[in-house]
Amino acid sequence: MSAYQCCINPDCGKTFGVDEVLHCCPACGELLDVQYDWNAVKPLKSLNVFESYWSERSNPHRFSGVWRFHQLLPFLPLEKCVTIGEGQTVLQNAQRVAPYAGIKPDRFFLQYEGLNPSGSFKDNGMCAAFSHGAFVGASRAACASTGNTSASLAIYSACTNLMQSVIFIGSGKIAYGKLSQALDYGAKTIQIDGDFDDAMSRVQQVSKELGIYLVNSVNPFRLEGQKAIMFRVLEALRWQVPDWIAVPGGNLGNSSSFGKAFIELHQLGLIKKVPCLAVINAAGADTLYRLYEKEGLRWNGGRYDKNLTKKFYETMNSEGRKASTIASAIEINRPVNLSKCLRALDFCNGVVREVSEQEILDAKAQVGASGLGCEPASAASVAGVKKLAAEGIIAKDESVVCILTGHQLKDPNATVAYHGTDKDFYEEILGKRGVKTRVFANHPVSVANDLEQIVSMLR
Ligand code: F0G
Repeated sequence: MSAYQCCINPDCGKTFGVDEVLHCCPACGELLDVQYDWNAVKPLKSLNVFESYWSERSNPHRFSGVWRFHQLLPFLPLEKCVTIGEGQTVLQNAQRVAPYAGIKPDRFFLQYEGLNPSGSFKDNGMCAAFSHGAFVGASRAACASTGNTSASLAIYSACTNLMQSVIFIGSGKIAYGKLSQALDYGAKTIQIDGDFDDAMSRVQQVSKELGIYLVNSVNPFRLEGQKAIMFRVLEALRWQVPDWIAVPGGNLGNSSSFGKAFIELHQLGLIKKVPCLAVINAAGADTLYRLYEKEGLRWNGGRYDKNLTKKFYETMNSEGRKASTIASAIEINRPVNLSKCLRALDFCNGVVREVSEQEILDAKAQVGASGLGCEPASAASVAGVKKLAAEGIIAKDESVVCILTGHQLKDPNATVAYHGTDKDFYEEILGKRGVKTRVFANHPVSVANDLEQIVSMLR
């Protein structure tokens, strides 16, 4: 096999087979990558070849928006790769949102990952992790989740019947659209008294103890699948690399995976230019922003300052600081992929910003009004671009792709609270979070059940 797992710590660099199940490097505790001996895998001359695969879409692996790119993530033979039709997503030239973001209309794009089978980008990674879990013979798979990973795991489990799903969620910390998916698809759902960070540390302990396969983004195979989001973005742009990719940052799996995709495409000589990466935190869950922009933490060739992060987390603990944001998908204070994200930011000349609840909700309303609605966390990417454009970091005529990570229907409460007229509901969901204005609200109008009154109102 030409693929292997490898510790990302340059002072360790231990390697392991792809048939081993590890959450991190057993020698030093760092994260693991999936790496390839590219000479042994079929060499690619250009990315154009992937377009021709589309004509073979009656083959489920060619139809899949992930496995279509199997040559760029060949850790299992294709026939072992599980697919439920993930990755049929669109890159939309979002002309109506562009003026809000401060970018020229023909240069602004939204990559709508809400079109995946479970309604979020997670399916890109889940098909890869799920394939690996089934390959190593696991009978159960688990994750901690703010909702989308669990919905994704649950759908793969229900559709394929290959592994049972067990999900850990913080009680009261998950939007109902997502919880309803996990319950409907039959996942064993464990609500623990705590937040995502608590659930994440518990699921790692439990899966180790019981030998349950872990599909959170510490799983390096999952991040392989998420590279396909970038492959599809490039494909939609006819292989022109955009100037910027903007993505919300939670557990930092996406940003890490995108960085790896560009490192590999560049190494393979398949792209010349590398985009800049903008990772956007919610202000209530801004560990990356603080560490990267305020404390100056850098990848430093893999020898990043671990003392800085240790002290940061100690202070967080002593202050009792917990993540809190309306963008519940990214309500995470201890991102497990921090080190890989630093690597991505280093390679892609990255920047990190934090955006307020107000900025997230306003950006979400703008995205919704353009026709491809998203959940609050996704809108952080647009809010972040607006901020970076206002600062002059992103120029108006640069090409920008924002990743809309999750579907609008995932979190209807946030949308209805913003647009609705129920004051108590607004106060409960948004008001108490400091969302003071709703300038883009599309308020419903109440009218008596009377033809004359309805007609006169619409006249
Ligand atoms: N956007 C959405 C809609 C998400 O669900 C998540 C993560 C993110 C952004 C952040 O992505 O972790 O790669 O930085 N949701 C995880 C979950 C944590 O459990 O569903 P990241």
